Amino acid sequence: PPPGPMGIDPLRSVAKEMKFMTSNIRQLLGSGHPMLDTVSKYYTQSEGKYIRPMLVLLMSQATALLPPKSKRSQRRWQGQEGIDTPLSPSGVLADANPAAGSGELGEGSDILPSQRRLAEITELIHTASLLHDDVIDTSISRRGNPSANITFGNKMAVLAGDFLLGRASVALARLRDPEVTELLATVIANLVEGEFMQLKNTALDERYPVYHEDAISYYLQKTYLKSASLISKSCRAAALLGEHPAEVVEAAYQYGRNLGLAFQLVDDMLDYTVSGSELGKPAGADLELGLATAPLLFAWRSNKELGTLVGRKFAEPGDVQRAREMVIQSDGIEQTRALAQDYVDNAARAISSFPDSEAKVGLIDMCTKVMKRRK
Ligand code: FPP
Ligand code: MG
Ligand code: MG
Repeated sequence: PPPGPMGIDPLRSVAKEMKFMTSNIRQLLGSGHPMLDTVSKYYTQSEGKYIRPMLVLLMSQATALLPPKSKRSQRRWQGQEGIDTPLSPSGVLADANPAAGSGELGEGSDILPSQRRLAEITELIHTASLLHDDVIDTSISRRGNPSANITFGNKMAVLAGDFLLGRASVALARLRDPEVTELLATVIANLVEGEFMQLKNTALDERYPVYHEDAISYYLQKTYLKSASLISKSCRAAALLGEHPAEVVEAAYQYGRNLGLAFQLVDDMLDYTVSGSELGKPAGADLELGLATAPLLFAWRSNKELGTLVGRKFAEPGDVQRAREMVIQSDGIEQTRALAQDYVDNAARAISSFPDSEAKVGLIDMCTKVMKRRK
C-alpha cells in the first residue's frame, strides 16, 4: 500500500482493516443534530495518523499467531455477537465494514470484531482529547487546518469532545468485557490527570526552586498519563480480547507503554526541531504555553539559568526566545532522542518472544517510524 500520512505504511497485514476505520468511526459519531454531527466529525475529515488503531490491529494480529495452547480458555463471555449490529433504530452505530466479523477480511487476518471495534474506540478517545486539548492550548491549527475551536468556537469543541467520549463509552460497553471497559475508562481518567499535571505543575509550583531530576520524573509521569496510557492500555486490551495468557497481556502492555513514552518524547522534540508548516500545527508551542518538556529539562542539567525561566514559566519578555536558544545550543534534543531510542528498544524487546509474522514486523517497524517521524 502507499505510505499513509506521515509516511507510516500500515503494512499489508492491516492495510485492508485500516480502509474501513474512518467510515466506521464516522458512523459511530453520527448525530441527529446536524451541527453536532459536523463538529464531531470535523477531525475525522483531516488525515490523522491513526497510530493507536493501527497498533491495536497489529497487536491483535501479532498475538493471534501465538500457539493456541497458550491461549486462555473462555476467559469470560464476551457478547461479541452484538458488536456489529446497529445500536439504535436509526442505525447510526451500524458497522460500515461489511466484512466485519464475517471472516472476509480474515485470510490470515485473525483480527476479532471486538479488536477491530477497540481500534476505533482508541481513535475516538484520542480525537476527543485533541478537541479538548486545542481548547486548553488555545491552538489555532491541527493537521494543517484551522483547529475545531477556531472553526466552531470553544463551547462546541468541548461538547463535541464530550460527545465522542460518550459514543466511545457506548461502543466500549457493547464489547461486554468488564476488564477492557475498566482499562479504557482508566485511560480517560489518566488523560485528564496528565493534562492536570501539565496545567498545574503542582509538585513543582509548590516546591520551587526544584531540582531538574524531580522535574524529569514529574515530566515522565505526566507523559505516561497523557500519552502512553492510551497506547499501552489499548495494546493490553487487544491482548485481553484475544483471550491471551497473562504474560502475553503484559508483553503487549509493555510494548505500548514504551512506544507511547517514546512517541511523546519525539513529539516534544519535534516542537523544537521542525517548522509549523511541516508539523501541521504551530511549532515552538510548548514554551509559549509555559511548558518545560524533555529537551529543556535535559538542557537544564548543564544550564542552571534555565531553572529560573522554568520557575516563572517563560513569562517575562524574551524568556521564550532565551530558553529556546539555550535548548538548541545544548545537548537536550540529542538526550531526548537517546531516551526515546531506549524506550523503543524496550518496546521491541517486550514482544521479542512473539512468533515471527508480518504483524510483528509491523510492530517493530512502528518503533523505527516513531523515531524517524517529522510530524
Ligand atoms: C495533546 O498534547 C493532548 C493529549 C495527548 C491529551 C490531552 C488531554 C486532555 C485535554 C484531557 C481531557 C480530554 C479527554 C478526552 C479525557 P499536546 O498539546 O502536547 O499536543 P499537540 O501539539 O498535538 O497539541
Ligand atoms: Mg496541544
Ligand atoms: Mg496540550
